[in-house]
Amino acid sequence: MDTLPPEQVVLVCQNRGCRRAGADRVFAACHKHLPVGIQLVGSTCLGQCGNGPTVLVLPDQVWYCRVHPDEIPTVVEKHLLGGHPIAAMQCKAT
Ligand code: FES
Repeated sequence: MDTLPPEQVVLVCQNRGCRRAGADRVFAACHKHLPVGIQLVGSTCLGQCGNGPTVLVLPDQVWYCRVHPDEIPTVVEKHLLGGHPIAAMQCKAT
């Protein structure tokens, strides 16, 4: 029996620190560009407050920091549809 691929979920932090950095516009860009079938969640703090807007893609556990709304179409095309996370956008280990 075939198994379905795990559902992708995109969490966009909507807590105060990320909102100050424009997370509401990142959420709006995701709402506009995410394909049907990928879940979008406006989340509480993801623990990367100094690097917002923060986006977490599950189940891949890929973190994107300082995300600009204009970058969302690229995330959709290369990562969510293409399966290739974008290294240059990922959070750096602290
Ligand atoms: S406020 Fe967004 S990660 Fe903490």
